[in-house]
Amino acid sequence: MGIDFTFVDPDASEEELSAAFRPNTKAMFGETIANPALTVLDIEKFAKVAHAHGVPLIVDNTFPTPINCRPIEWGADIVTHSTTKYMDGHGAAVGGAIIDSGNFDWDAHSEKFPGLTTPDESYHGVTYTKQFGQGGAYITKATTQLMRDLGAIQSPQNAFYLNLGLESLHVRMPRHCENGQAVAEFLEKHPKVKKVTYCGLKSDPYYELGQKYLPNGSCGGVSFELEGGKDAAKKFMESLKIAAIETHVADARSCVLNPASTTHRQMNDEELKAAGIAPGLVRFSCGLEDTRDLLDDIARALEAC
Ligand SMILES: Cc1ncc(COP(=O)(O)O)c(C=O)c1O
Repeated sequence: MGIDFTFVDPDASEEELSAAFRPNTKAMFGETIANPALTVLDIEKFAKVAHAHGVPLIVDNTFPTPINCRPIEWGADIVTHSTTKYMDGHGAAVGGAIIDSGNFDWDAHSEKFPGLTTPDESYHGVTYTKQFGQGGAYITKATTQLMRDLGAIQSPQNAFYLNLGLESLHVRMPRHCENGQAVAEFLEKHPKVKKVTYCGLKSDPYYELGQKYLPNGSCGGVSFELEGGKDAAKKFMESLKIAAIETHVADARSCVLNPASTTHRQMNDEELKAAGIAPGLVRFSCGLEDTRDLLDDIARALEAC
């Protein structure tokens, strides 16, 4: 679609982030909790740099969901969700959501956003910022023009499934976090485990950011590396009885995968390293099962590798 990116380290300083801007940069984008590296985004830092360069900050908040983090309150302008994950909760319907804070002043940077600040001939010559104001310009263009052209519209049945999930999201998220914390603590003490990434662990480099942005818990996703590398990861996953090997993540049922050989297999070794993905990394997505059952399953699978 002609969209290009400049990748930056989520831990980059404000100066480094600024230096990554190009004359045609239109937005900054980050994940509150990155999948699968589970780094925590310093939303305030990214918002400050984005706004200094006259562009909005877009945050993918799929993993914490609005129950655990509300990025707009930290300066994000637009928030996105894969609703396929916790929001639906049961993998019943693929979907996504865009939340526009209405806080970004497109007119103040109109040379960067002509699609919003000049007439759209494909939609009765409407100028979105004039017609719908700062609060409605972006989301109206997204829903009238882009959804019309690209067809990204959820079917009524799928919207119904999503709504069922949303009604119990606030009850499910604390349980996912409880299981995530228990699994992370268990893995951290296990002799066959080399490294665990979960921002609820005091030893995690993102613990402080997690306490700031996710004080009530982060998500059910725990990433870890086994001493035995990729082969041990394979054995471990195949030995699990409760958690299923799946590409899907953030579901009511626990699921597990090895990103390097599945979701991220198009990346070469260097790109994998830059994305924080070791060849033997296991992404374990804690579901809603009883914590003791989950720990027993993991303990048994670890014995086998
Ligand atoms: C954080 C995050 N954002 C977005 C997506 C994309 O989701 P979907 O397949 O529903 O478009 C994923 C999928 O794994 C994800 O983990």
